[in-house]
Amino acid sequence: MSEIEAVNDVITVERAGPVALVCIDNPPVNAAGHAVRDGLTTAIAALEADMDVRAIALYAAGRTFIAGADIREFGRPPEDPWLPAVCNALEACAKPVVAVLHGTTLGGGLEVALGCHYRIGVPGLKVGLPEVTLGILPGAGGTQRAPRLAGIAFALEMITSGRQVPAEEALEAGLIDEIREGEPRDIALAAGAEALEGRIETRRTGTLEVAPDDAAIAEMRARMARRHPLLFSPHKCVDAVAACTKPIEEGLAIERALYEECQASPQRAGLVHAFFAERAVAKVPEAAHAAREIGRVGVIGAGTMGSGIATALLLAGCPVTLAEVNPEALARGRGTVEKNLAGAVTRGKLTEAGRDEALARLETATDLSALADADLVVEAAFEEMGVKTEIFGTLDRVLKPGAVMATNTSYLDIDEIAAATSRPEDVLGLHFFSPAHVMKLLEVVVAAKTAPEVAATGFALGKTLRKVAVRSGVCDGFIGNRIMQHYRKAADHMLLDGADFDRIDAALEAFGFAMGPFRVQDLAGLDIGWTYRKRHAATRPPEERYVAIGDRLCQEGWFGRKAGRGYYLHEDGDTRPNPDAQAIVAGERARAGIAPRSFTDEEIVARYMAAMIAEAARVVEDGTALRPIDVDAVLLFGYGFPRFRGGPMHYADSVGLPELVRRIEGYAAQDAHFWQVPPLLRKLADEDGRFADLNS
Ligand code: CAA
Repeated sequence: MSEIEAVNDVITVERAGPVALVCIDNPPVNAAGHAVRDGLTTAIAALEADMDVRAIALYAAGRTFIAGADIREFGRPPEDPWLPAVCNALEACAKPVVAVLHGTTLGGGLEVALGCHYRIGVPGLKVGLPEVTLGILPGAGGTQRAPRLAGIAFALEMITSGRQVPAEEALEAGLIDEIREGEPRDIALAAGAEALEGRIETRRTGTLEVAPDDAAIAEMRARMARRHPLLFSPHKCVDAVAACTKPIEEGLAIERALYEECQASPQRAGLVHAFFAERAVAKVPEAAHAAREIGRVGVIGAGTMGSGIATALLLAGCPVTLAEVNPEALARGRGTVEKNLAGAVTRGKLTEAGRDEALARLETATDLSALADADLVVEAAFEEMGVKTEIFGTLDRVLKPGAVMATNTSYLDIDEIAAATSRPEDVLGLHFFSPAHVMKLLEVVVAAKTAPEVAATGFALGKTLRKVAVRSGVCDGFIGNRIMQHYRKAADHMLLDGADFDRIDAALEAFGFAMGPFRVQDLAGLDIGWTYRKRHAATRPPEERYVAIGDRLCQEGWFGRKAGRGYYLHEDGDTRPNPDAQAIVAGERARAGIAPRSFTDEEIVARYMAAMIAEAARVVEDGTALRPIDVDAVLLFGYGFPRFRGGPMHYADSVGLPELVRRIEGYAAQDAHFWQVPPLLRKLADEDGRFADLNS
């Protein structure tokens, strides 16, 4: 007979003769928040003192063993007991302590396990120390105990990459001692008995010798310097692991000091914000509605975008019908899908059998009537209203009742597209980003008449595709492209005023953007922006400052990388500023009567960010985005915004809103049309508020 006693709300102890089972039950992921730490400490102390108990086994209820420290507690004053003390108490326990791990045993969860004396993994287990992705390092002994079990080189790779290691690999490396089938509780019960009978060999990780490996440390230091010159914590991770050849107490003290430096870093705050942004965007009003069932998906248009969307759907297991009127274009599109899937095989994301199955799910058609049985259709045809309304009119006739009709338009008015059908409630925008099978962002654009369950279906599809789906209202460019158009203008203004395009790119890349705005345009194709500007020429306010440099490049046919030249020359994999583009810049400056002035990198970044934040504030103010954190997610997952800075709204809060207002007012002295303080920004600044206040 066993008895179960609750230590607190999240920890129970079950006594089965001389074996005590400690169960952690803190849904959803058993994060090691204060109650878990406190409960474990109390339980271990009590069991150690209990003469009837001779072995202890830890396991967890629900989908996973502890998936890490409770990230929501970061940045708050720490509450005793800390996780390192819990791990040290487990290791010091005089009785054998076994841990049974399942699910995703990550971060502080793995550190708890490393503090135990024997580790059993349930098949399917993944372990990892992903702290580096949150701007910190494993601060509860992970940098000292992982190398003692798996060696310095393995621990360094695992800790600096944050990757999840499958059970088999963890076993081979020595991080866990065995893999055993069964329910975690049953395994814990059996293993506890085996431990006390000496049938499994328990030992304290901290007492193990670790072979020095200076070469691995030097190599990793060099790799981190190359790969992450702007990041703080990867370098601290290496420093912490390097201390593991010292006696364990000394190593743990060094780890703690480095951990605290990381916790205090603004990068930690930015990366944790990005972690929550990725999840917060799913909390939309329509989430309460049941999504429609999605089986076969139709994709219209076999260009780069349509083929990319089809690839993303196939990779997620959906059957797809790719439709394109032009048979040659359709054949090319199919070829692109095949190439994309082959790339996934090369990158190890897909097996060859998986590729064959994906291709077997792909059908092609030159007639939209082939989409009659589709549950959802994504139109990715030419970006022109007439083309779109014609397609939607046809879809209205051929699609079955209840089918969801999505347009992948980047800028066009979805209400107008929906009006071309007799069922506008079934129409929404699903705005993918190129390459659609790689980029994580998906804007789910909810039009005036979109039914809530249709919006919910858009989010469900986003989840199937493992994308970060963000809700946007209808406007010119939705959340992302609308903000981008604005900050690109700020970059163009600086270019005309004297900052060279390569200098602007370099300053923004040093700030952390994956690419500067001119390099991005070269990559995407300068003709895209040109088409946009031509479409807006008639409605452009006369007082708007217009920079025609991009137009001049396009008039020469210099569309960027695909043409071999744009702002840059793209030759043999090499990129350098295009002297002809520089001449065009000089000519435009002269034509406008501008004496070029110099800009510091700080000024370039400040103006660019002020423009981004100003338009982002308007996007929140007019309800296009639900909350500031949605804007952050869009820029982070679709526009190469540096993750460690958390997104433009988080960054704005870190700069200080009154300071931003002052900057914009200063710039307005030169261009009052472009630089206007958004009322929301002014209001928050006046009230000493932050954008973060609007996130809940
Ligand atoms: N702390 C607090 N909340 C967490 C959390 C954590 N460590 N991990 C997940 N959650 C929350 C999520 O925010 C989400 O909440 P909402 O439903 O309110 O949005 C919920 O748990 C479910 O998470 P997911 O939607 O991500 O679920 P999933 O099944 O897709 O993934 C997971 C599960 C793999 C555990 C994933 O959540 C994850 O990677 N979590 C973070 C793991 C991590 O980084 N751990 C290290 C923490 S740092 C640390 O441990 C420091 C130290 O050394 C002391």
